[in-house]
Parts: sequence; C-alpha cells; structure tokens
Amino acid sequence: MANDQEKEAAARASLQFIQDGMVVGLGTGSTAAYFIKLLGEKVKNGLRVRGIPTSVRSREMAESLGIPLTTFEECQKIDVTVDGADEFDPELRLIKGGGGALLREKIVASATRQEVIVADASKQVKRLGKFPLPVEVIKFAEPLVAKRIRALGADVRQRTGADGKPYISDENNHILDCRFGEIEDPDGLARQLSDMPGVVEHGLFIGMASVVVMAKGGEVVEVRR
Ligand code: A5P
Repeated sequence: MANDQEKEAAARASLQFIQDGMVVGLGTGSTAAYFIKLLGEKVKNGLRVRGIPTSVRSREMAESLGIPLTTFEECQKIDVTVDGADEFDPELRLIKGGGGALLREKIVASATRQEVIVADASKQVKRLGKFPLPVEVIKFAEPLVAKRIRALGADVRQRTGADGKPYISDENNHILDCRFGEIEDPDGLARQLSDMPGVVEHGLFIGMASVVVMAKGGEVVEVRR
C-alpha cells in the first residue's frame, strides 16, 4: 500500500475521535492535510466544530474548506488535535517538525486533551533519531546554538527553502535540522535543548501523544503506550 493511501486511511480513521461541538486542533503536513480535507467534508454535511490550526498553511486550507476557526483568545482548551509525525517510538515519543510547524504544533498539543497522531507505517521506529530533529532557533543565536548542538554529537544543518534561502517559520525563526542518529535518551536530550538559550522549541514531543492511528498494509491500528 502506497504511503499516500496509508496516510489517507489513518486520517479517515481519526475522524472517530471528533464529535459535534468540539474544538479541534488542525495539524500540519501531508497526513494532517488529509484529515483537514475529510473534516471539511463532515462540516459541509453539518458537523459543528471550531478549528485551531497549527500553521498558516493549515489555516488557509481550513478556511478554503469552510471549517470555522477559533483562536486562543477565545478558547484555551482544545478537545482533540489530529496531527502527523515524522517518527514515533513505542512510548509514543515523537519527532515532529519536518513540515516546519513544530512550534505552533507543540503549543496546540500542550493545550489539547487528546492528541491523536495520524501516520503511515514508515513513521514507526524502535528508537527515534533516523529523521533529523528539527530545532527552531532565534536567528540572532543560530551559530551559537548550532555549535552547542554539534557538541552534543549531531550533524547540524540550517534548513533552506526551494530557493536556497534560509527557511522561515510561521513565527519568523530559522530551523536547524539535527541528525543525531539513534537518540539514546530522548527525554534527556529534550531537556538539554529546552535549556539552551536561543532555542525557541525542538521537535521532540514527549508525553503529548495520546494515541497513534497508524495505517499499515490495508489495516489501521491504534498504538497506545
Ligand atoms: C509538520 O511540521 C510536521 O510535524 C508534520 O506533522 C510531520 O512532518 C509529518 O508530516 P507528513 O504527514 O507530511 O509526513
């Protein structure tokens, strides 16, 4: 089964978590985009929800589909968020941010009662770290932060866009893609990165995912801790 079919199947299965009247966090990335599209169809058929998008991209998509949106000004509690991930391990620790939206994704996840991760089977790993860990940094501090992360053993690259220029996040920061290889202690690394001045946020999501809805070869399974 091709990845795209798996992504759509996982997104479709995640609709079971959405109920009428809920505030729903709208993830970012290709798998979350399937979810937003399917949610848009439900809204057209009468489902009443209010969405909080995790990126400009997802906001624009939701708007184009007629999904009503809200903001943290109006509402600080999200019932369910459906988002993708770049990797997840057996403890449902995640690497996120391949799509560059990790900062808003983590803020939305932190306000969410049930964080549902939708994934194709390629995202399941025994140990995190094959996927380069995205770290969002303040531009001013970037060289310093890059040096400090290199000292932790990672190969660190500045993310660039298709035009070769530095990638700019929705919050106007840069992103460093940090290749650690297998991360032995994700919790410890998360703390080290959070403690580094100049790091705005990193893509390790620990203790945030409630369930991963994963499509694998024609079937959809729920993976829990
Ligand atoms: C966006 O910043 C990411 O966290 C995505 O959720 C993650 O990269 C997964 O994306 P895909 O669903 O496109 O694989």
